[in-house]
Amino acid sequence: MSTIEFDRHSPITCFDVQNNDLVIGGHTVSELATRADGLAFYAYDRSIMAQKVAQLREHFPRSVKLHFAIKANPMPELVAHMASLVDGLDVASGRELEVAAATQTPRHEISFAGPGKQTDELRLAITKGIVINCESATELERIDGLAADMGFRPKVALRVNPDFQLQNSGMKMAGGPQQFGIDAEQVPAVLSTMQYMHLDFHGFHIFSGSQNLRADAIIESQNKACELAVRLARFAPSPVRMLNIGGGLGVPYFPNETPLDIEPIGASLNTLSAAMQQQLPQADLVVELGRYLVAESGIYVCRITDKKVSRGQIFLICNGGLHHHLAASGNFGQVLRKNYPVAIGTKMQATSTATASVVGPLCTPLDLLAAKMTLAEADIDDLVVVFQSGAYGYTASPQYFLSHPAPREFLV
Ligand SMILES: Cc1ncc(COP(=O)(O)O)c(C=O)c1O
Repeated sequence: MSTIEFDRHSPITCFDVQNNDLVIGGHTVSELATRADGLAFYAYDRSIMAQKVAQLREHFPRSVKLHFAIKANPMPELVAHMASLVDGLDVASGRELEVAAATQTPRHEISFAGPGKQTDELRLAITKGIVINCESATELERIDGLAADMGFRPKVALRVNPDFQLQNSGMKMAGGPQQFGIDAEQVPAVLSTMQYMHLDFHGFHIFSGSQNLRADAIIESQNKACELAVRLARFAPSPVRMLNIGGGLGVPYFPNETPLDIEPIGASLNTLSAAMQQQLPQADLVVELGRYLVAESGIYVCRITDKKVSRGQIFLICNGGLHHHLAASGNFGQVLRKNYPVAIGTKMQATSTATASVVGPLCTPLDLLAAKMTLAEADIDDLVVVFQSGAYGYTASPQYFLSHPAPREFLV
């Protein structure tokens, strides 16, 4: 593997370079661009996903189950590949549920979380026998009504909105008022109603945040999630069989960010899982991860279709941009826009560099993939590569905006 260096980003070490071309999964980006009929594309390397899972397995206790949150990348072939590596899948919609149910994953290892589940989605979840992570007391009543009508007894876990936050997180999804989960203080009362319902109490889902690069913050939230679950279990109608303590493991996207240190998290999980085997002996401990498993395996590639200099500034204008990769444009939750790691994928060995901005074809200044970045000197028809693009790329982008063609996707 080659080490791809950047001015201010963490180096990328999981890809090869052949002559001047970046190589992913044995294919040069030029070759894949031809396969994509010249359109922009995403490519995901299955071996990098396997390495990420292997790395976690090496540090985490075997008793901790790894679930893949397919919202990060629901491409069906990729989900099938991930399903062969992890212990379970988490879905957030009826469509994702169909994708997950088409894999070999045992149904009780597929969970369905998310606020505002529709009646037909709940029916589907009940029919398929997957675990429903219930987000509110009223949703619980709806599931119970459907279960009674359908003559099923679905496995239901309560998603808890805890009384703590995941510190230093890119996105906080717990603590304080939230649309997610049932407030911890309301959970005992909700649990007491469950004994009269047509529901099989399965456990708790405590997901507190996303994109965190601080091991200490993740450890703290995992410990607090377990403490909370032990307190709440006293009110449960039956033993806790599943305790999902969330995820939040992040990847370095921006200048000066460094990769998360997984070792202390593994060490802490070893202690925590031993303690939980004493306190909730029937519970499987689950960690639910999206981006950590797939982000680094993916690249987004678009072609330079024009190059111009405006008042001294170089613009590389591409056939892809914000509509294909909203997150790299800085419009998917960033407060201050920062560049993803970007390179000229057809000039990987070039020595002459220039400061350039990479923009897309949309009529908005928001359509920016790199702002004033040091890149290899590029020309029309060169390929721009955006790294760290395997999660929240293709399906997290407004592809219909301005009606340009969609990018292609390859699992290699
Ligand atoms: C319930 C739930 N699970 C898992 C995830 C995946 O998070 P990440 O991709 O940061 O690991 C999210 C992200 O929003 C989520 O809401």
